[in-house]
Amino acid sequence: MTGLAPRSLPWPYEHVDGWLVCQGVRVADIAKEFGTPCYIYSEAAILKAYEVLACPDAKGRTARICYAVKANSNLAILRLLARAGAGFDIVSAGELQRVVAAGGRADRIVFSGVGKTVQELRFALEEGVGCINVESLAELQQLESVAAGLKVTAPISIRVNPDIDAKTHPYISTGLKENKFGLGLDDALEAYRRALKSRHLRIVGVDCHIGSQITSLQPFRDATQRLLAFATELHHLGIELAHIDLGGGLGICYRDEHPPSAEELKNLGLQMVADWAAATGCRTPEVVFEMGRAIVGASGLLLSRVLLLKPSSDPAAKHFAIVDAAMNDLMRPSLYQAWHDLFLLQPCQANAQAQTWDVVGPVCETGDWLARDRSLALSEGDLLGFASAGAYGSTMGSNYNSRARPPEVLVRQNGELSLIRRRETFEELIELEKIPKDLWGPQPEVTSKPPY
Ligand code: LLP
Repeated sequence: MTGLAPRSLPWPYEHVDGWLVCQGVRVADIAKEFGTPCYIYSEAAILKAYEVLACPDAKGRTARICYAVKANSNLAILRLLARAGAGFDIVSAGELQRVVAAGGRADRIVFSGVGKTVQELRFALEEGVGCINVESLAELQQLESVAAGLKVTAPISIRVNPDIDAKTHPYISTGLKENKFGLGLDDALEAYRRALKSRHLRIVGVDCHIGSQITSLQPFRDATQRLLAFATELHHLGIELAHIDLGGGLGICYRDEHPPSAEELKNLGLQMVADWAAATGCRTPEVVFEMGRAIVGASGLLLSRVLLLKPSSDPAAKHFAIVDAAMNDLMRPSLYQAWHDLFLLQPCQANAQAQTWDVVGPVCETGDWLARDRSLALSEGDLLGFASAGAYGSTMGSNYNSRARPPEVLVRQNGELSLIRRRETFEELIELEKIPKDLWGPQPEVTSKPPY
């Protein structure tokens, strides 16, 4: 077992005669054309994942899908999704500007986040954002005064923290009461009471988001139940909700997880909300999902090249494969001990023996690893692809160790390649920096002689 079997190679990636292929294109050729490290995304995979969520259920009901921009904010991907009809979930003015730059509709945007600045709130109102998901009483007050200043009415939803364990990595669990997100039910009710009294706030919805990479339906079911029970209380206050936003968080398969399908989750949400409306006599609110990973995660590969092999003669030590991608390109393994499947892009070389490697980057941190204990038949110069890197890959990248951000390539449905972000240059890396003039003064002569 070399670990090369196409175990969880996500569609439309496939192995053909030992070559990894996407839409008829050999991925190794992409790596050669654009260099490594490099992100590639399959247009077909993104559109298919979006369509499964956006298409009507068996009863002809649809949910509004607000793509969570933070998962992958490349303008071309935003454009692709805007054209497919997506709304957007944003968390900053920067993300709002991206959506606008990609031609997305502001009125289809929900604006989440625990710490929006006054400037961001003003910008969102000026742009006509569809809904601001308010996460604290202080934010509600701030938003009200910004709206009053602009002489507009702000469309709002209160983000409820339903205190549900999403059973995911603690760093990406957001719906527990010890998490910083949203308002507990009592405080949320108080927020709605205050909003009702305000001339500058217009209640359009209620929302929650309990975490990310969730791999079972149960937490979604529990959270929706709590949200709907809360919506009944709002109904008693006389509030008619235009939408119920169930957040994002649907997991994907990185290794051996079996998350529910997007269709199952969509059906569950639509059905629960419809049943609730029938039971309470309320008008059926629109169901909103803020999905990120489930739309773009499986579409992406991070391409990399093996720079050096560093096997150890000590049987107790590790064998390292040093590759040209690093933690600054793909943070998830260092940050969450996340698993990304790893594939050779070309047939393995005839003399390569499978052995267990830690695949690490060149960054000067022990935490700089991308894959551990992988059985692979590697040779220096081999091209590799880290799978399911479409979400929270490039967006979480940095320039640590003065490494340029990698290019991003969209593999079009017809097999054409679009460079949707070029590799950063050194000039761009230092563009914002400046050495004060006086520091260019004379430098002391080095007088001491080296001791040899
Ligand atoms: N809505 C809100 C308010 C969120 O905070 C998030 C993600 C989403 C929607 C989208 O969640 P998704 O459908 O993508 O799970 N960096 C981590 C994931 C952080 C998720 C943060 N919030 C990772 O690489 O796993």
